[in-house]
Amino acid sequence: MSYIKSAALDEKGYVILDRYDQAADPKEWLDIEYVDWKSSGVTQFAPLASAFGEIEVNGFWNHTPPRTDKDGVWIESQVAKAPNLTRRAQEPGANVGRCRVIELQPNIYSDTLYNLHQDDNNRLNPDGTGWIVRGFFNLSDDPESFMTLREDRFDPSTEIRIALPAGAQIIVDTQRFWHAVWHKGPEPRYCLITSWESGPELDAYIEKYHGTSEHENPYLSREVIDEAQATVQRRLAERAATLASQGTTDRGPVDPEA
Ligand SMILES: [Fe+2]
Repeated sequence: MSYIKSAALDEKGYVILDRYDQAADPKEWLDIEYVDWKSSGVTQFAPLASAFGEIEVNGFWNHTPPRTDKDGVWIESQVAKAPNLTRRAQEPGANVGRCRVIELQPNIYSDTLYNLHQDDNNRLNPDGTGWIVRGFFNLSDDPESFMTLREDRFDPSTEIRIALPAGAQIIVDTQRFWHAVWHKGPEPRYCLITSWESGPELDAYIEKYHGTSEHENPYLSREVIDEAQATVQRRLAERAATLASQGTTDRGPVDPEA
């Protein structure tokens, strides 16, 4: 047995869909309720679907009984304030797990590299069922900010930077990629993140919106990359030393969105 995966994501691990006309919709993300939740960077989250329909964003496996990232329960009060966001998350017709808007404060490139992590989307996911991937719909207009993906956490040559103007729509296997967003600001960034189960419904959705992995990285100078890389190594070494002085070891980043 093995998981059902999307052929469109098989090779590159991500697809970029047609851009959505975000300006035509009201800014629903400013109306919904947020909870403090530390993720990669300074963040808050506003759930639309959660484990039991409460306004909280913990991973479904951290609830009783623990379960995988599927069958999210829509939160009535949030859905009522964000009908367009809800419609878009439900449009593929694929099973939805966690669904929430992230608010991310501005950061710098070395923060992004420090924040790189892999999601734990498929914990407890039964073999033979659909692999969980995540949709990212950028809501605010952040054309100079980038979804930053790396196949190898410390290898800049594996880096993919996808710009995030309003309406950008990306689906990523975030358990495969190390990822974080480089958000230059100055305003907070808002993005709808949805866990979808791979399968024929999601495949059809990707096809409908012309999902492609054809992408050219925006230019970033060697010096900027090298300097940020060195900063990350220094911060990680400092962190390891601090932990060692406390008699513990650094087990690396855990899924900060869990
Ligand atoms: Fe993540």
